[in-house]
Amino acid sequence: MTVSSAPGKLYLFGEHAVVYGEPAVGCAIDRRARVTVERRDDDRLQVEARDLTLDGFTVEYSGGANDQLDVNVPTPLVEAAMGYVDGAVEQAREAAGAPDAGLDLIVESEIPLGAGLSSSAAVIVATIDAAARELGVDLPAEEIADRAYRVEHGVQDGQASRTDTFCSTVGGAVRVEGDDCERIDDIPDLPLVVGYDGGAGDTGELVAGVRALREEYDFAADTVGAIGDVVRRGERALAEDDVEEIGRLMDFNHGLLSAIGVSSRSLDAMVWAAREADALGAKLTGAGGGGCIVALDETPGAQTALRYTPGCEDAFRAGLDRDGVRAEG
Ligand code: PMV
Repeated sequence: MTVSSAPGKLYLFGEHAVVYGEPAVGCAIDRRARVTVERRDDDRLQVEARDLTLDGFTVEYSGGANDQLDVNVPTPLVEAAMGYVDGAVEQAREAAGAPDAGLDLIVESEIPLGAGLSSSAAVIVATIDAAARELGVDLPAEEIADRAYRVEHGVQDGQASRTDTFCSTVGGAVRVEGDDCERIDDIPDLPLVVGYDGGAGDTGELVAGVRALREEYDFAADTVGAIGDVVRRGERALAEDDVEEIGRLMDFNHGLLSAIGVSSRSLDAMVWAAREADALGAKLTGAGGGGCIVALDETPGAQTALRYTPGCEDAFRAGLDRDGVRAEG
């Protein structure tokens, strides 16, 4: 039996614009997906998913990778998560030269699904690592990140940047620009607070919406370019440990994301609640449309204010996780 875990992540700066070649900065957080894998004697896959929604459930799945799952999956989000597991297993089997290996998997996660905290990347990365090791191959980080990206890219119809899968693999803070991915080593411990509205946005739809706006209006394209400028200033502020400037730039980034139509009433309400509680800055994280915001706050103020904000289902402090994917057994 082999167990691996991988962290979720949030975007400090640059989501959506990264799809058009602008840089983005992501940051792994101390909420993880954990995948347990055990080799079977036959060629079947059986996946048991726990904590992916509020109710645990079991998915019985037989057949090779890429087969459709037609079982009692309770929500489209969990169904999507199973698609990621399927793709990740296929990658691990290919890497191990064992295309017909049967596996039992248990997937557990502390990361809300589809809410901008890269739950899917964490599940993919942990699955590839655990399944490959169970099949006798220890994959280097670059290969795990690359294979995980291929899975996400495939499932999301090409609408994925490398940020989530790279960040979940290597941990810490990362900078991504096109295919160039690097870890940012000198990152301060930022006082991050996450607010979660209990919902999720449709990444494909949101990305398509931004693409259409960019094609229709030059000023929308300029807005996407301006997000890139904010990211570059953000990188400088991170290098200088200038937490106040990081907060101001997060506010600016949120405004620009709002302008290209990816915020929502509940995300805006949480952003404003955090700001009014004197957070240094706040923005949505990920695709938007619903899900999570991230605020920068050294005091308990933002977290408390978020707890009393209508539409906010959960608020928690998120530590930077400097570990990426790791063996748990
Ligand atoms: O909501 P998430 O974590 O899937 O983030 C999507 C962010 C985008 O920039 C819109 C796409 C991407 O893969 O970076």
